[in-house]
Amino acid sequence: MKQIAVIGSTNVDLVSYIDRMPVGGETRPVSDFQIVTGGKGANQAVAASKLGGDVLFLTATGTDSFGEMCRSKLTGFGIRKEGLFTVEGATGSTCIVVEENGENRILINKAANGKLTSALADSMEAELAKSSLIVLQLEIPLETVYHLIEFGRRHAIPVLLNPAPAIPDLELEKVVQCDFFVPNQSELSLLIGRPLETMEEIVEAAKELIAKGLKHVIVTIGSRGALYVSAETNGAVQIPPVKVTAVDTTGAGDAFIGAFAECWVRTKDIRQSLERAVSYSAQSVTRKGTQEAYLTKEEFASAEEK
Ligand code: RIB
Repeated sequence: MKQIAVIGSTNVDLVSYIDRMPVGGETRPVSDFQIVTGGKGANQAVAASKLGGDVLFLTATGTDSFGEMCRSKLTGFGIRKEGLFTVEGATGSTCIVVEENGENRILINKAANGKLTSALADSMEAELAKSSLIVLQLEIPLETVYHLIEFGRRHAIPVLLNPAPAIPDLELEKVVQCDFFVPNQSELSLLIGRPLETMEEIVEAAKELIAKGLKHVIVTIGSRGALYVSAETNGAVQIPPVKVTAVDTTGAGDAFIGAFAECWVRTKDIRQSLERAVSYSAQSVTRKGTQEAYLTKEEFASAEEK
């Protein structure tokens, strides 16, 4: 089986479901509260693993009880133990609020994720070098992300970068070597430095990134599906959405990346992988949570038959 290396964050998510956001100074009750394992890296690794992918996940969790909870959940989801580093101190955590329309807002304490250094990643160099795809996001130190993009280039391993969460100091010249660049609409907007609303504006922005040297730009656009632009496509390809009722959109982008990665290493078919990713991510928003809400390969197959 072809190995997918995901290098990224693990968090414990403290999730409150609310009818509306409180205004300043206001206290409001929640309709539901859950403590679940999350983190963009972990979510992507778990999605790919649940779909049957062979996932090597490198992540750093702390010496606290949250760390134990995350490591045990991850192995339960089929993630191998070897890349789950334990570092002194607290595990990453977030405070998430989800409104009735499924929209989420997230505050993050990166904690152990900030200690996933290049040196720690290098300690798994021999295993990493066996990968068919490297998947990265931005909840770990930027220096580690740049280091792994360079590692991918040296070993001729394709790299997928999900520039999430959006950070203003991402250096484009350091990421143009990535094969797949997968922002959402607001991440692309921050990167390009202007608001993006219409499809035309999004396509224009994606084309600007292609002109700067990126090979494949995939923009996830929520309920509008996804958009794909590459040097080879003549114009943009729009992958239509799968209509569902959203309950919780947290981790939908991660479900998309995990599903895309699993399908792409197996088929090398970008179009097919994009369609599968849109559909898998749509399924993920119909249930509360992230990793627990992601469907297994069998569950996904039967959901697609309906
Ligand atoms: O993308 C969703 C994830 O972002 C959550 O699980 C949370 O941990 C934050 O990292």
